[in-house]
Amino acid sequence: MTESEVAQQSAEQPTPGIVPAANRTVSSGRRAILSVTDLKKYFPVKSSGLIRRTVGYVQAVDGVSFEVAEGSALGLVGESGCGKSTTGRLITRLYDPTSGSMMFEGKDLAKLSAKAMTPMRKEIQMIFQDPYSSLNPRHTVGTIVGTPLRVHKVVPEKQVLTRVRELLEVVGLNPEHYNRYPNEFSGGQRQRIGIARALALQPKLLVADEPVSALDVSIQAQVVNLLRDVQNEFNIAFLFIAHDLAVVRHFCPEIAVMYLGKIVEIGERESVYNHAHHPYTQALLSASPDVKQAAIGGRRERIRLEGDVPSPINPPSGCRFRTRCWLAQDICAKQEPPLLQIGKTHKVACHFAAELGNHPAKPITAPLLGTDDQGNHAPGSSPVEFSTNPGYDETWFDLKTKTFGNR
Ligand SMILES: Nc1ncnc2c1ncn2[C@@H]1O[C@H](COP(=O)(O)OP(=O)(O)O)[C@@H](O)[C@H]1O
Ligand code: SF4
Ligand SMILES: [Mg+2]
Repeated sequence: MTESEVAQQSAEQPTPGIVPAANRTVSSGRRAILSVTDLKKYFPVKSSGLIRRTVGYVQAVDGVSFEVAEGSALGLVGESGCGKSTTGRLITRLYDPTSGSMMFEGKDLAKLSAKAMTPMRKEIQMIFQDPYSSLNPRHTVGTIVGTPLRVHKVVPEKQVLTRVRELLEVVGLNPEHYNRYPNEFSGGQRQRIGIARALALQPKLLVADEPVSALDVSIQAQVVNLLRDVQNEFNIAFLFIAHDLAVVRHFCPEIAVMYLGKIVEIGERESVYNHAHHPYTQALLSASPDVKQAAIGGRRERIRLEGDVPSPINPPSGCRFRTRCWLAQDICAKQEPPLLQIGKTHKVACHFAAELGNHPAKPITAPLLGTDDQGNHAPGSSPVEFSTNPGYDETWFDLKTKTFGNR
């Protein structure tokens, strides 16, 4: 299959149960500035040799949907290789998506040509993980921070230096250091330069890809505080990518947990931290020192995940987490668990989401998928339609009563 065939196939698949925008809510009640629906990125894998044929695809991002509210922050969390950076790079169109949509200010970023994308680049900026490789060592700080101002002709040439100084001051650097080179700064200071560059165009959305992961722990909090200050001052929305839940906890009112290209749990911070329903989220939380035991099913010990993350070229059938999940049953290999809304602002993709802390008995999803408890098709029953919409519906599946409805 060629990449365009993959895209076409994805596009042809029905997207059941899409709820009109008017019936949806963003958790914070604020307007969504970015709405991502069923976003996919498949990287072709080529054979070696003279004629390099496509022999498979890395399913780096495989159908993710989420929203980021204006001036708010969504934390995107998961182990290395689960597709976080690829998601960020799709939104900033450093990569072209295989399929899906990314609505930003009424335009679908996925469909914009390179030319049409140019004005959007002002609005959406990215901060990278590595403050060493993301700044050109041969350019002065003034050039680095001033280049976006010049390229997008934001201010007349005469005012560029003044604006650069202002930006350096905003990020807590000495404005007179504009003539210095990146190697004259520490890691934390370099990340501040990267933030100043990202702020130069006054973006509405910042994709921060592990902005503090490469920094000393003592510096991390300072940089996170700086990001919070600029968020408040300039009303910037954040997609904040991190590999552990501790970093995003105090920054992001909403959290999405990714595993092998898919979102497995998403919800408002309190809901996810205090009532995690996915075993993978529970495992991540158990590694965070300040998490209440209720969130991890009353377990005292740290949940150690066995084995490595499987290859995204041949991901496990059914639930992708099943090869490392201590709750996995037959149905987990046969049926993919749908990302089911289980509360006002909480969705989870696990057949046994209702079994928090218990030995799994009955998959809540079986009647919804039209299967028996082992995941085999149940004659005479048909699956319900699952929504892939990025926000939250006004009705959801109640885990206690096992019926759809709202309160
Ligand atoms: N340009 C690329 N070409 C092929 N595979 C890629 C490319 N970029 C990332 N990948 C693969 O996609 C998967 C997700 O990577 P990435 O988005 O960087 O994960 P994360 O940021 O969560 O660590 C990984 O298996 C990675 O090897
Ligand atoms: S669906 Fe099954 S394998 Fe996947 S997380 Fe839930 S219990 Fe584990
Ligand atoms: Mg990454």
